[in-house]
Amino acid sequence: MIQLNNIVKTYILGEQVVKALNGVSLTINEGEMAAITGASGSGKSTMMNILGCLDRPDAGEYFLAGQNVAGMNADELAGVRNRRIGFIFQSFHLLPRMNTLENVCQPLYYQGLSSKEAKEKAMHSLKRVSLDDRMDHLPNQLSGGQRQRVAIARALVANPAILLADEPTGNLDSKTGKQILELFHELHSEGRTIIMVTHDPEIAAICPTCVQMRDGEIVDYRRVVPEK
Ligand SMILES: Nc1ncnc2c1ncn2[C@@H]1O[C@H](COP(=O)(O)OP(=O)(O)OP(=O)(O)O)[C@@H](O)[C@H]1O
Ligand SMILES: [Mg+2]
Repeated sequence: MIQLNNIVKTYILGEQVVKALNGVSLTINEGEMAAITGASGSGKSTMMNILGCLDRPDAGEYFLAGQNVAGMNADELAGVRNRRIGFIFQSFHLLPRMNTLENVCQPLYYQGLSSKEAKEKAMHSLKRVSLDDRMDHLPNQLSGGQRQRVAIARALVANPAILLADEPTGNLDSKTGKQILELFHELHSEGRTIIMVTHDPEIAAICPTCVQMRDGEIVDYRRVVPEK
């Protein structure tokens, strides 16, 4: 479903050149649940942004459901993203002036749903993360863990086949983190493809696929094939 071939992403800031991704190749099959680990600065978020069609690589190919998206323009990428991908950002990216319910509705408006239809779906999605009692709160009236859950509800609301999460439990206490992981397992068992960045070795250990990055490269890859 997802295939990266020799992906390169370089950031140039003044005189400094950072090879954030230095020839990354990776295949993720439909329905896989994968963890991406690695030290801070190793390129995990850069890779997630490319996987999530939020950014384009400088070189390499990215096949998503058979389509090479590496050469697409911003509009085309947005279309692919809206159709296929739910993205949970490392820093939430909630809209500060909109309440919980409206934040979760946003991806559906892009798809052209009416406000009534969107709100119904958003409520359902908020129920899944146990936040249906916080629909009228603004992001700054929520705890960090609640914001994270709003971000998850928003990523799920359009029922994407692929869920990408950058440190989804990084800001949560261990109990809330466990609940989020259970939700991810549930989503995985429903057939979704899940890729998440994590610093937590325990979380990485329970993911059937584990990818380790260092200095913009994949240095370790482990995949447990389930017994039939
Ligand atoms: N917009 C940018 N401009 C310049 N350099 C950048 C930019 N974004 C990332 N980098 C650099 O690219 C490298 C990889 O960054 P990235 O955000 O992918 O790391 P990460 O593995 O997600 O780290 P963390 O665990 O801290 O989130 C870092 O050295 C970073 O400084
Ligand atoms: Mg990061």
